[in-house]
Amino acid sequence: MTEATDRAPASDRPPTDGGTRLLRTSLLEPPPTRAVPVTGAQPSSDTGRIIVPEPDELPAPTPRVAVRLEEVGKIYPNGKHALMDVDLVVPEGDFVFLVGPSGAGKSTLIKLLVHDEESTSGIIHVAGYDLTHLGRGDIPRLRRQIGIVFQDFRLLPRKTVRENVAFALEVTGTPRRQIRATVDRLLALVGLTAQAEQRPSQLSGGEQQRTAIARAMVHDPKLIIADEPTGNLDPLISWEIIQLLLRINELGTTVLMATHNAEVVTALRKRVVALESGRIVRDEVGGYHRDYA
Ligand SMILES: Nc1ncnc2c1ncn2[C@@H]1O[C@H](COP(=O)(O)OP(=O)(O)OP(=O)(O)O)[C@@H](O)[C@H]1O
Ligand SMILES: [Mg+2]
Repeated sequence: MTEATDRAPASDRPPTDGGTRLLRTSLLEPPPTRAVPVTGAQPSSDTGRIIVPEPDELPAPTPRVAVRLEEVGKIYPNGKHALMDVDLVVPEGDFVFLVGPSGAGKSTLIKLLVHDEESTSGIIHVAGYDLTHLGRGDIPRLRRQIGIVFQDFRLLPRKTVRENVAFALEVTGTPRRQIRATVDRLLALVGLTAQAEQRPSQLSGGEQQRTAIARAMVHDPKLIIADEPTGNLDPLISWEIIQLLLRINELGTTVLMATHNAEVVTALRKRVVALESGRIVRDEVGGYHRDYA
């Protein structure tokens, strides 16, 4: 089935989550200069020319939302209540750590976001899609808006670094010349140009994870979701992977990352969403553990 025929491409349709979609620039272009609305522009009484107010006089633009969950619950078929009453809003451009003890529901939350599992109750919006009302062909489109990174890399062992990254573009029928340019750009971004022809077994754990991150970026996603991406890596290499995710975030991609890495979370002072027994118990900028004043 060709997904392109039944409905307009997602990029041509308005997001279902409100807000005006602005065109994103490619990752290696300089950061976009934000379009400033000219609300409040007044004709000057003496010259008739339009006077645009200074930026700090303008109303703040409404942030667009990458992820919105409202009263989300997940009960697995065996009766396990993995998530309860989860409310979460992640504006585009955020960097969010998802923390909590083993079994708290972090991976379950991620599986709901990427539509690997369906919620039992509540509303989920991701990258403009209402996950409870996905149309035919929407799932592949949704997945292209999300780059997913796992603890165990999940690379294809017989393919080279270049082929692993290119594969996701080949299956969507991207022209070869464009694939080559995109893969070269992403391998440069993750620092693997020299390893392009090596297979996963010839790479270090950190290099394998960087390959997986390059693969996650092939469709220039709005959102990167990473489930314990540093779980198999030693501390120094973990920091390299985190720096790479921070760089990707700086370039405009929203990042949501589940982790047990207390040192990294505490050092970075980013937004931390903590789950316990399926509920969000904390959502604030701070460390891995609650900061007591
Ligand atoms: N497919 C499933 N069927 C039934 N129960 C499940 C399933 N997947 C997860 N669970 C249960 O749901 C709860 C949440 O699991 P989840 O994998 O989301 O936790 P987690 O926070 O990611 O833990 P960890 O830090 O160990 O990865 C756990 O009690 C787990 O046993
Ligand atoms: Mg998990």
